[in-house]
Amino acid sequence: MCGIAGYIGQRNAVEVVLDQIERLEYRGYDSTGVAFQSPEGLKVLKRAGKLGQLRAVVADERPEAFVAIAHSRWATHGAPNDLNAHPHFDQEGTVAVIHNGIIENYLEIKEELTRAGHVFQSETDSEVAAHVIGLEYGEGISLEEAVRRAVGKLEGAFGFVVISMREPGKIVCSRNASPLVLGFGEGENFIASDIPALLPYTRRVAILDNDMVALVTKDGISAMRSDGQAVELAPFDVEWDIASAEKGGFEHFMLKEIHEQPDVVRQCLAGRLGQEEMTLLGLFSDHVWHDIDRVNIIACGTAYHAGLMGKTLFEKMLRLPTDVYFSSEFRYNDPLLSPKSLAVFVSQSGETADSLAALRLCKERRIRTLGIVNVVGSSIAREVDRVLYTQAGPEVSVASTKAYVAQCLVLYLLGLHIAQVKEMPGVDVRKGLKAVRGYPDAVQEALELESAMQEAAKKFLDAPLVFFLGRGADANVALEAALKLKEVAYVPTQECPAGEMKHGPLALIEEGTLAVVGATQANTRDKLASNISELQARGGHVLGITTKDDGLIPGVSDTVAKIPATGDWYLDALLSVVPLQLFSYYMALYRGCEIDQPRNLAKSVTVE
Ligand code: M6R
Repeated sequence: MCGIAGYIGQRNAVEVVLDQIERLEYRGYDSTGVAFQSPEGLKVLKRAGKLGQLRAVVADERPEAFVAIAHSRWATHGAPNDLNAHPHFDQEGTVAVIHNGIIENYLEIKEELTRAGHVFQSETDSEVAAHVIGLEYGEGISLEEAVRRAVGKLEGAFGFVVISMREPGKIVCSRNASPLVLGFGEGENFIASDIPALLPYTRRVAILDNDMVALVTKDGISAMRSDGQAVELAPFDVEWDIASAEKGGFEHFMLKEIHEQPDVVRQCLAGRLGQEEMTLLGLFSDHVWHDIDRVNIIACGTAYHAGLMGKTLFEKMLRLPTDVYFSSEFRYNDPLLSPKSLAVFVSQSGETADSLAALRLCKERRIRTLGIVNVVGSSIAREVDRVLYTQAGPEVSVASTKAYVAQCLVLYLLGLHIAQVKEMPGVDVRKGLKAVRGYPDAVQEALELESAMQEAAKKFLDAPLVFFLGRGADANVALEAALKLKEVAYVPTQECPAGEMKHGPLALIEEGTLAVVGATQANTRDKLASNISELQARGGHVLGITTKDDGLIPGVSDTVAKIPATGDWYLDALLSVVPLQLFSYYMALYRGCEIDQPRNLAKSVTVE
């Protein structure tokens, strides 16, 4: 989740790497730092807080360097302060190192080095790694060889970038689990932890694989495996335009990404729909789907909520038993895994540490794995047996919106695919395809509820607690809508299936309490109407979200938002998230919150 940047070439290297770090701000961070080669030697400047604080120090120094590395840190070991910020020096000040991830054996190494006389300036595991690299960098040893030897001694997840004055024309980097991307230029080259940081400079990139060490000079990039064997990198051209990684006229990335959703749906469906049939390329052979007896969906946060939609769909439509697990719980509970089961990993970033750990457990147990992932070439995408990309484009806002819609849509397409392969008599694949074909327009129409959601947000701005309720698939969406409100507007929420209210949570309803009630599921509307009466009888105010063809809920809600009816229960429920995303956005806006980077959160959670 920390940001990494590296540059070597003819430009002002410090300016380049700070610009790269700025483009990674969405990842969340609490301090920043930069190292560069100056006439006086290797120099490090670092500051706790936002990038502006570092920029102020840099402005005083006016560095003119051709080699620089920079980092934005999200604290894992030690408080977010100046000393713990990266880069770190080794004992002799020969190398400067930035690091993403966690070194699991750092304490024992630190104790050993302390006994040998090493002095540490910070509390971080990263500084320990810098000392290990420095120790390996003995006479006659190249920087890349020193890094290769050092990473052999370190356990855990890492992405390192290292520079030294002893070999001024080099940047060396290495990774294990934490992502690193290499950018190729003309007479200049780049390193970053994520592609958007490279896009203003180059589209030619290569993903550094696990257990690789790369040597980056201004004239080229070469790589070797941890055993010292040279490997060929596989550069490719990134097709995203820079504008798609910028705000495009909206005040925040979150709002931009909500508005992108009609296009996201189009991109997600692209190449996958025929008139009669659908095509999901790269999946298992048809006979495998007949063999699968159970699905386990494993994910975190919003992706977990998409997984719940998948469960409801697979069980209702395919009669295929499906469980959904939080990745962070999965491997510690000795999961019962049928050898014929399929484990599905849903992840926007493809780098979430808990999900990766769960994936590795499934692989150890030789369970079939499938990823539903947004970031191409990410760790989960590369480690699963098969991958379906959500094709949602880069999601910058920490709060996931368009990725959720795309994840749920891919699960829907997967459901139709399985039904098609198994020729399930009760499933009308053609009807599903028709509904999905009209979905971009339905999402566009749902976005027209923006001003209604603005009004609702103004009205309930100071609500101390907001309920999110629904039944069936609407109860799944309620969880996601509640998470959005919590994470961007910092409003406490209570979410549960509406029928559960009278088993306890109803005690919290009092005069003026807001309950947002999803009511797209026609089969439970009668029951839901009774639940609404129970809320209103205790003074609750009900904001109902339902389809335009519903004749019941608008009559019993205090306020109502109507979305188009798609003719499909799953797609209707999913559509209801669109006005609710807008509601959270405006609640956050009016409450003055930092919308794209909510406090305490990061975009990609790469530590367990
Ligand atoms: O990258 P992933 O989809 O694996 O991330 C999972 C969660 O960390 C993520 O969905 C998180 O809950 C979002 N901030 C929610 O908006």
